[in-house]
Amino acid sequence: MMNLIDTMDLSLTEIDGLVETALDIIKNPEKYAESCKGKKLATLFFEPSTRTRLSFEAAMYELGGNVLGFSEASSSSTAKGESVSDTVKVVSCYADIIAMRHPKEGAPLVAAKKADVPIINAGDGGHYHPTQTLADLLTIYRRIGTFENLTIGFCGDLKYGRTVHSLVNAMSRYKGIKFVFISPEELRVPRHLREDLDISGISYEEVTSLENAMPELDILYMTRIQRERFSDEDQYQRLKDSYILTVDKLHNAKEDMAILHPLPRVNEISVAVDDDKRACYFEQALNGKYMRMALILKLLGEKDKTEEKIETVSDFVCRNKRCITSCEQEIKHEFRLADKAKNIYRCIYCDKEPKK
Ligand code: CP
Repeated sequence: MMNLIDTMDLSLTEIDGLVETALDIIKNPEKYAESCKGKKLATLFFEPSTRTRLSFEAAMYELGGNVLGFSEASSSSTAKGESVSDTVKVVSCYADIIAMRHPKEGAPLVAAKKADVPIINAGDGGHYHPTQTLADLLTIYRRIGTFENLTIGFCGDLKYGRTVHSLVNAMSRYKGIKFVFISPEELRVPRHLREDLDISGISYEEVTSLENAMPELDILYMTRIQRERFSDEDQYQRLKDSYILTVDKLHNAKEDMAILHPLPRVNEISVAVDDDKRACYFEQALNGKYMRMALILKLLGEKDKTEEKIETVSDFVCRNKRCITSCEQEIKHEFRLADKAKNIYRCIYCDKEPKK
């Protein structure tokens, strides 16, 4: 079974294929109008969403399929204590493919191990959000025409911003990429991502000033400070206005820089910036629908393909309270070797190192 848990599940050739399909859908929508006739997509959203859930649903309808699901955990039997594993086993009986958003890191991977149909990660806590990355990639391609030789600035909440983590993974495989991580010290990009970049020899810098970084950027990826992930409200209040992009702050940006944002925004991009030709965030939301259409077609078309199994060990315990292993007791804790030279293992669900 082919699933999409992180962008690393897709090869660069597969990403090219999805972009190509999405571009063809944009050009010839009628060609795809009955592609999923008789098929059902289940959207299981245990966390709020506007774009991801509705664009998945619009995508399936535009492919001629049907949709079922729920938009909050409280209206499902999760409220009665049902596990993720049992939920997806049951939904597999009703749907051909499942898109799932969950507050716990790794929940979609647990679902993928249990379900009889393809699972798409529609966002798992502060971990990954691969279909947002697909939207981002199509936007970059349509605006800039290439994924290579780009300097990409990520600004805001890089600790909890799952869209950042998935896009960094995806872009780090292209030639000539440099990342500039712009955040307060408390919201730096997670260590496991920095270690991966170090291992792969990818160029990146961490800075605090958006203004100083601006002139070299080809892409500025703004993010919201993720209030719902903070355990300390005072810390959120202190950090929430760290970066606010205004028209004035764009004075030294490149003329053709692309401004992306996964949305929703709070106040981190002034509404006046929407009229700047470099703003791409609303077309990014539309591109998400086309890429989700392409993804549904691919996963339903490759239902019988088997995924490569990674080797794991179970010698440790994951202590990350945000990991799905912290609340689904029956899940076996599994770890993969992330850095052979340093003998570093990471949880397969949340990517955190086990506490020794
Ligand atoms: N970008 C994104 O995931 O938006 P929603 O939370 O509205 O789905």
